[in-house]
Amino acid sequence: MNYTLPKLPYAFDALEPHIDARTVEIHYTIHHQAYIDKLNDALSKAPELADTSLEQLISDKEALPEAVRDAVWNNAGGHFAHSLYWQCMKTDGGMVSEGAFLDAINDEFGSALSLKEKMTEVAAGQFGSGWAWLFKDKEGNLGILSTPNHDTPLAEGKTPLLVIDVWEHAYYLKYQNRRPEHIDAWWNVVNWEYVAGLFLIK
Ligand SMILES: [Fe+2]
Repeated sequence: MNYTLPKLPYAFDALEPHIDARTVEIHYTIHHQAYIDKLNDALSKAPELADTSLEQLISDKEALPEAVRDAVWNNAGGHFAHSLYWQCMKTDGGMVSEGAFLDAINDEFGSALSLKEKMTEVAAGQFGSGWAWLFKDKEGNLGILSTPNHDTPLAEGKTPLLVIDVWEHAYYLKYQNRRPEHIDAWWNVVNWEYVAGLFLIK
């Protein structure tokens, strides 16, 4: 298995002014590509993982061969998380307006605004580099958590639906160390149609 950079579903400047074009370009072409290159390099040393899916690689760390465990875990997680992150954004994002997904949001959080407030708090509060996720658990309920580094909810058997990258490389050029400003801006580009679609099929 040789992983490649998935096509970005929009132009580098599509998320302006909320996320600037230069940040998207560097984040996608350099950071995301680097995780893929390192993942491929690690997998080349572990042919026994050739038939293991990306999701399986980041579900059970102890199942990975020790010699490549950290490299595969971290870089497969980085590839998975970034791939979802790009899909979860679009020009002129909005709020989810109707349907089973909104019903599930209202059941769990009370309102879409409450979801937004809770995820903002979790993302801002993640110590150091990491991610904040909206997930669906095995019972079909929604939840929010943050993970350090490139860990993902798959390690807890939870299905990611929406993710925000809170590594500094995601916002440093425009927002420097002001992570809360970046999070507030990011809500303007969330692709809720895509997230709702994942909720329905996962
Ligand atoms: Fe990133």
